[in-house]
Amino acid sequence: MKIVMLGAPGAGKGTQAAMICDAYKIPHISTGDLFRSNIKNGTELGKKAKAYMDKGELVPDELTIQLLMDRVSKDDCKNGYVLDGFPRTIPQADVLTDALAKIGEKVDFAINVDVPDENIVNRMSGRRTCPKCGASYHVQFMPPKKEGICDVCGAELVQRDDDKPETVKERLRVYHEKTQPLIDYYDRCGVLHTVDGTRSADDVFQEIRGILSK
Ligand code: AP5
Ligand code: MG
Repeated sequence: MKIVMLGAPGAGKGTQAAMICDAYKIPHISTGDLFRSNIKNGTELGKKAKAYMDKGELVPDELTIQLLMDRVSKDDCKNGYVLDGFPRTIPQADVLTDALAKIGEKVDFAINVDVPDENIVNRMSGRRTCPKCGASYHVQFMPPKKEGICDVCGAELVQRDDDKPETVKERLRVYHEKTQPLIDYYDRCGVLHTVDGTRSADDVFQEIRGILSK
């Protein structure tokens, strides 16, 4: 099962991807998380990516595509995966489609988590993430059991550098220009499913589960 998560920044792609991966035991591949771990480890790729991410811009396709293709070629991806934050441009989608076609495969589901822009800034300002295990919370909508502490691994939660309101606005602008066209792209491939992402994370997941079980 190969699943692509679509949706604006903060729509809940990462939250839903984590729930799907937990239920179906397939790896969760987030290009954003891969870049953040490169930044944390001080790699050359991390240094290059940070300059774009801090401004809310996309990291250039040539850096992103290589990173993703290396990751999906690993052994744990044999039974499928959930891509969260990739593809984000038409050229990225074309590379994925072509690479899968070469091995007689395709994206099985593109899940578009739909949330209007008005709700996004509020979601982002309340997001807290775990720098150690990557778990994601929201101070109001999905608080951890103990304030500021990760339920999973006990590390202190942090706010993402790119969650400042000005950067969020730029990320939304870039989303509408470069990534939203992928909704039509996957619709034309016959694999698009749009879910209303404004409901609770559990309700959204129930709907996704229904789609995936068809
Ligand atoms: P990335 O890390 O992918 O960020 P993003 O797409 O902007 O998305 P987010 O992670 O911010 O949001 P999300 O949809 O995962 O929402 P979440 O579940 O956390 O990318 C970061 C940067 O890396 C990009 O800007 C770019 O520079 C670069 N990059 C990455 N991939 C790239 C690519 N392919 N090409 C080029 N550049 C790339 O939820 C958000 C908050 O809301 C959380 O606090 C959560 O708890 C809460 N929440 C979730 N669901 C609900 C709900 N149903 N109700 C209430 N609250 C909810
Ligand atoms: Mg995410």
